[in-house]
Amino acid sequence: MTNNRRQFIKASVLGSAAVATGLPTLASAGEKRKKSTSLSILILGGTGFIGPHMVREALRRGHQVTLFNRGRTDNTLFPDLETIRGDRNNGLDGLKGRSWDAVIDNSGYVPRHVQDSARLLAPNTKRYLYISTVAVYADFDVDNTESSALASIADESIEDVNGETYGPLKALCEKRARAEVDDERLTVIRPTYIAGPGDHTDRFSYWPIRTRKGGEMVWPGTPEHTIQAIDVRDLANFSIDCLDSDIAGTFNAVNPARSYSMGELLADSQAVTGVRVDPVWISEEFAAEQDLISGRNFPIWRPKSGPRSRTSSFIGEAAVRAGLHNRPERETIRDLLTWWDTLDDDRRANLRAGMSPDQETEVIAAWRARDA
Ligand SMILES: NC(=O)c1ccc[n+]([C@@H]2O[C@H](COP(=O)([O-])OP(=O)(O)OC[C@H]3O[C@@H](n4cnc5c(N)ncnc54)[C@H](OP(=O)(O)O)[C@@H]3O)[C@@H](O)[C@H]2O)c1
Repeated sequence: MTNNRRQFIKASVLGSAAVATGLPTLASAGEKRKKSTSLSILILGGTGFIGPHMVREALRRGHQVTLFNRGRTDNTLFPDLETIRGDRNNGLDGLKGRSWDAVIDNSGYVPRHVQDSARLLAPNTKRYLYISTVAVYADFDVDNTESSALASIADESIEDVNGETYGPLKALCEKRARAEVDDERLTVIRPTYIAGPGDHTDRFSYWPIRTRKGGEMVWPGTPEHTIQAIDVRDLANFSIDCLDSDIAGTFNAVNPARSYSMGELLADSQAVTGVRVDPVWISEEFAAEQDLISGRNFPIWRPKSGPRSRTSSFIGEAAVRAGLHNRPERETIRDLLTWWDTLDDDRRANLRAGMSPDQETEVIAAWRARDA
């Protein structure tokens, strides 16, 4: 970073920003949301799943929002907002010469893209907020705080984002952002699985949607097995809080900071839907033997051993101290089901995660046959 840039930053209005991992200096979330200064906010990736929730929350607080995307995803969603068309892959021209109070980088998967946008926009913005992921961590068998070791990738020129490279590339994206934006003006949020209305992955949604159908239902592992997700609206609120209150630092964004289990997910899904299923809890060993362990079959659940294992949790206390408010899981379940019911028949007939009815029948038969 050049001296000029450092001087600019020192002279900026952000001298009082709360820096460092999860040590906010500001008031409670409720107070923060009352803040009345209207900000101009650029959202890179304001459509899709998380983006629209951020846009709506920002507008609700009286901020002005500009969107930047390619126009491939939900491009009729916000006809009244300024939208700059462009591809993060060498297509940032529309952003040149512009300035915003804050930038939310919600579509950074490739390190070069994050570097290019942060380099272009950092001199002309007071805050750069990068949406990362808990997949950045190196070790999923320890409880990860924000200062835990991050994954790395041997060849940093790789730009192919897949199940294997996603986490290490996001870690590298963070590194690139840190090289371009100084600490006082950078916020990095690392969400776990995101749940709620608009989720096009159906990962968390599968469990309540399937529960509502009733009957015998396959559940992996044990009811005590813990999981984490975060409501998309809580994530959006926290992101805009960080802009409103100049909160810098790095934050895991998870629910809960306390423990939530598959058994509670089942109980909450039943309570909200009013439907009781007959749960068939198959052991993790059996699931492995039958080659069932995948994010497709058992979304958001991770086994305790094997290639997809996760025995730990992500510690979310820093974000809670900074003002993240997690709503009850039943509210997430209720609202995602309400949203789900607005989708067309074809979409609802094709869940993108979870077992098909035929597969469930086969698995239950095999599980029962093992003792026969
Ligand atoms: N979903 C989760 O559970 C989850 C969990 C942890 C972290 N995250 C992180 O959250 C962020 C948002 O996730 P999401 O699920 O909301 O994503 P999404 O639904 O796929 O939305 C992506 C947005 O980015 C835009 N975009 C994508 N590629 C672009 C490009 N090359 N140039 C310009 N715009 C581009 C898309 O619009 P166009 O297609 O029109 O360009 C869209 O507005 C990501 O950074 C992801 O890593 C997600």
